[in-house]
Amino acid sequence: MELTLSLDISSAKSLQGQIFDQIREIILDGQLGAGMALPSSRLLAERLQISRNTVMLAYERLTAEGYVKSRGTAGLFVEPISPDSLLLIQRGSRARTNGPIPEASSEPLLCFAGSPGGGSDRPELDFWVGRSDAARFPLRLWRRIINRLLSSETSYLTDYCDPAGLPELRLAIGTHLRRARAVSVTEDQIIVTTGGQDALNLVFNLLRSQTRQLCIENPCYLGAQLIFANTNLTTYPIPVDHDGLQTDQLPRVRGSLLYTTPSHQFPTGTMMPLGRRLELLRWAEETDSYIIEDDYDSDFRYDGPPLTALAGLDGGRRVFYAGTFSKSVGAGLRIGFATVPSIFWDEARILKARMSNGQAWLEQAALAAFIDEGHFDRHLRKLRQLYKARRDCLVGALRRHFADPDISGQESGLHLIWRLPASFPSAREIQTRARHQGVGVYALSSGAAYNYDPQAPDDMLVFGFSSLAEPQIELAVGKLRGILGEMSAVTSERTTT
Ligand SMILES: Cc1ncc(COP(=O)(O)O)c(C=O)c1O
Repeated sequence: MELTLSLDISSAKSLQGQIFDQIREIILDGQLGAGMALPSSRLLAERLQISRNTVMLAYERLTAEGYVKSRGTAGLFVEPISPDSLLLIQRGSRARTNGPIPEASSEPLLCFAGSPGGGSDRPELDFWVGRSDAARFPLRLWRRIINRLLSSETSYLTDYCDPAGLPELRLAIGTHLRRARAVSVTEDQIIVTTGGQDALNLVFNLLRSQTRQLCIENPCYLGAQLIFANTNLTTYPIPVDHDGLQTDQLPRVRGSLLYTTPSHQFPTGTMMPLGRRLELLRWAEETDSYIIEDDYDSDFRYDGPPLTALAGLDGGRRVFYAGTFSKSVGAGLRIGFATVPSIFWDEARILKARMSNGQAWLEQAALAAFIDEGHFDRHLRKLRQLYKARRDCLVGALRRHFADPDISGQESGLHLIWRLPASFPSAREIQTRARHQGVGVYALSSGAAYNYDPQAPDDMLVFGFSSLAEPQIELAVGKLRGILGEMSAVTSERTTT
């Protein structure tokens, strides 16, 4: 069959990527059916007037992803794809499982100065989620490294860096990931970004053209929901239980992009066990889907060794990993990173160049030195101890002041969840009342989380425990008990009059 492909040499997407996408579309649209042959790479290269190597790379990827199979010297032939999957992924299909998707939240966005937990009007005792302790920032060391950098080679200040990020930093990140998260990546699979949010954006934009529908944990991180909301693709909110995302609820349709936080589900804090992680990878393989693994706070695991990241189990095929130094060093640095399967790296680097042309040199160089010289590991060890003590203090105080509180998500990360008993006022009411008395506790909708179900009960309070010292935590929980005592008195008065 004659393949009509049109290549755009001015596109950010590589020629190999364009060939792959277009042939993939032709196969998925059913124009090229099972058993039909692709033209030889030599013939297609001649027709398109490009190098044969480029066509062969695209063919390799089509083979690797199971669209075609080699029959030796006879060439490449299209593999059968079930008619059901084809029906479901027809262009324009609008299948949706969980009802209409509401408009994006009008709540303040994410963690910026001015959000409920940010800015100058922070409550005195503030459990805002995911904030590291400013007093523990390694300021003296950082200043020393910066001074050293500025007194040596400064031409980097006037030059552009590699858009993928400073090679030394990518190398340091790769070493850390291999050791700490069992993610085996080279520096040529890493793109340094402006924090974790930028990493999510980068991966989303990279995969957008080949994504047919989106899947996202529900409830989820608001930052991810905002990215997904900015598209007309069908979105499947996938419910979360005590083992994280419910893999059996994933749609069995080809070409999905799934966002997940398996190591510490945001916001509920659950940890996905290995069995489910493997199911997730199987689903991605079987449905030809990709996964964004947001591993935003897994440097902090308190009760046991860190779990292997999904990207570590996947072996560089379908999982794009998003990481950040916002929790481990400081959100003000705005340094994060994405890892991508090798086959996507060139495209990701070009996309990053188009989006921002790389990151600032000084902070990248300082962070690379900080990691290489062993300071990062030492810093993490100290923070883990400190935050574990704060976590223990918070859990202890909640248990002392309230009868058998339903707490979850405390095994790792910087926040936990208290699911309120049915007799309590709503989380929002508690948030408002507590704030008037100088205590910042947050309902999910104000704690950088999003629920696709507008009817979901408002019964969860988020407590970020990393930026409050133990005496403050004790004080805050004591006050909260007083506030709730007053509120339940008010509530029972209202119901009896
Ligand atoms: C679940 C989750 N993902 C990603 C991020 C983004 O990290 P960053 O602040 O580095 O953009 C955050 C930040 O709090 C987060 O909570």
